[in-house]
Amino acid sequence: MALLLASTDFWEDMDVWQVELKAELSNIDVRVHPDVGNENEIEYAVVWKHPHGILKRYSNLKAILSLGAGVDHITSDPDLPEGIPIVRLVDKKLTHEMCLHALHWVLHFHSEHYLYLKQQIDRKWEQQSSIQIEDRTIGIMGLGNIGRGIGDSLVNQGFKVLGWGANQKSSLGDIKYFFGKEQLSDFLVKTNILINVLPFSKDTKNMLRKDELKFLPRGSFIINMGRGGIINEADLLSLLDENHVTAAALDVFEQEPLPTNNPLWSHPSVYITPHIAGQSNPKSSAKTIAENIRRIEDGKMPFPIYNITKGY
Ligand code: OXD
Repeated sequence: MALLLASTDFWEDMDVWQVELKAELSNIDVRVHPDVGNENEIEYAVVWKHPHGILKRYSNLKAILSLGAGVDHITSDPDLPEGIPIVRLVDKKLTHEMCLHALHWVLHFHSEHYLYLKQQIDRKWEQQSSIQIEDRTIGIMGLGNIGRGIGDSLVNQGFKVLGWGANQKSSLGDIKYFFGKEQLSDFLVKTNILINVLPFSKDTKNMLRKDELKFLPRGSFIINMGRGGIINEADLLSLLDENHVTAAALDVFEQEPLPTNNPLWSHPSVYITPHIAGQSNPKSSAKTIAENIRRIEDGKMPFPIYNITKGY
């Protein structure tokens, strides 16, 4: 039995993943693409942006497991083998990293550090009047494991937190929840700092255009750490130019790497990071992936399986 690790991402160190997965799965041969060996022996594919088309070569494949939180890098393969479960990665350490990334930018905006950065350039000593934490409302789009984790951590800091998701949910503690397209504007009008952690799907593609973003109160902030292609970039730029949105911290983009001629790079109110909000930790993620493989070998369901109808 063999597991194939595959990625086209130059930054992803497959040797490290191989070591960690070998340590967890002593009975499985862990191979790294393109050193596939006998294709019939491949029963698991563990991938991050794998070369499209390769997975259908493995006739004994039992599951495709993602090395990252999202699976759009898998589902975008037009040659995906049919009927093979796709397993998302839900890992505590990854969620924690996402919480820290969100907290960093929330504080950057809430505590006016974006203004102090500009003031320093002008050697200007001016104390801004601060908004109390309980008067700042954070709205999170996407209330899965990651969104919920971020929401709870911000509630613990004293922020008012709202959530929005496509479907009804119960028991979200102190997070007031809105759902469905009908409640999107009610959610946006109350949001001062919008955090997007929605997955990319046919339903979320281009979901936040100017018409929707205009519901945010003037002077709001945006943190996008879900996927590019959900918030329309041209519309965001125009709302930043109109000062309707004061600033945006963007970690994900319609096209990655972000092309050097993209105007977002040079906008004075845009903060760019190169898709680092939640980098999978090989040690802890290998444990989660191995646990799912053991579940499959024991005849149980891995968790969580990508649901094609829901798009996540
Ligand atoms: C992702 C990740 O899915 O970085 O974007 O894990």
